[in-house]
Amino acid sequence: MTEIRNVVEKIKGDLMSERPYVIDEMISAKAIAARVEELCKNIQSEFVGTDKLIVVGLLRGSFVFIADLVRELDLPVEVDFLEASSYGDGMESSREVRILKDLRGAIEGRDVLVVEDIVDTGYTLSHVISLLKSRGPARLMSIALLDKPSRREVEVKADWTGFEIPDEFVVGYGIDYAQRNRNLDHIGKVRFTG
Ligand code: PRP
Repeated sequence: MTEIRNVVEKIKGDLMSERPYVIDEMISAKAIAARVEELCKNIQSEFVGTDKLIVVGLLRGSFVFIADLVRELDLPVEVDFLEASSYGDGMESSREVRILKDLRGAIEGRDVLVVEDIVDTGYTLSHVISLLKSRGPARLMSIALLDKPSRREVEVKADWTGFEIPDEFVVGYGIDYAQRNRNLDHIGKVRFTG
């Protein structure tokens, strides 16, 4: 069943990526950098005195955000990754969260910060928070660069949010469209031209 769904998602992704589109800038690289700086001040106040903060990036979308966050944080940090997927290559959430890659290290008794690129329906963040809580961390906080509250289906909110955005199809700064555009230094809005 999962195999069939993967094939369907792949075909959907291939078809979508052939539709012509342009990307309009929504949040500039400069605005993101300024917000990252602010967010890090808040994170530092929360975790001041920690002997080690484990910063957990949710792959793949958070890889740019987590890289900027940890370089801005003036705290002893360790970085780990978890891959959770709810979308495949399609645009619709499958509402089923799969853990494709688990953490390398244990988090029991540790301070943990989960880093998400975008909270949409909320299924991914909610699932990951429950999973990590069950492992007994001392403190578990979460941060999302973007939040689309109008799309929420599961009640969840990151402890810190970079920007609340309307229900637009966004890409860049780690976020993809059919696996492309993750390398844009800003957040852009996809506008189909055909
Ligand atoms: C995207 C995004 C978030 C999640 C948010 O991940 O990176 O992790 O969906 O959606 P939700 O709130 O509706 O659950 P995706 O599964 O596309 O994987 P990716 O990070 O590898 O692009």
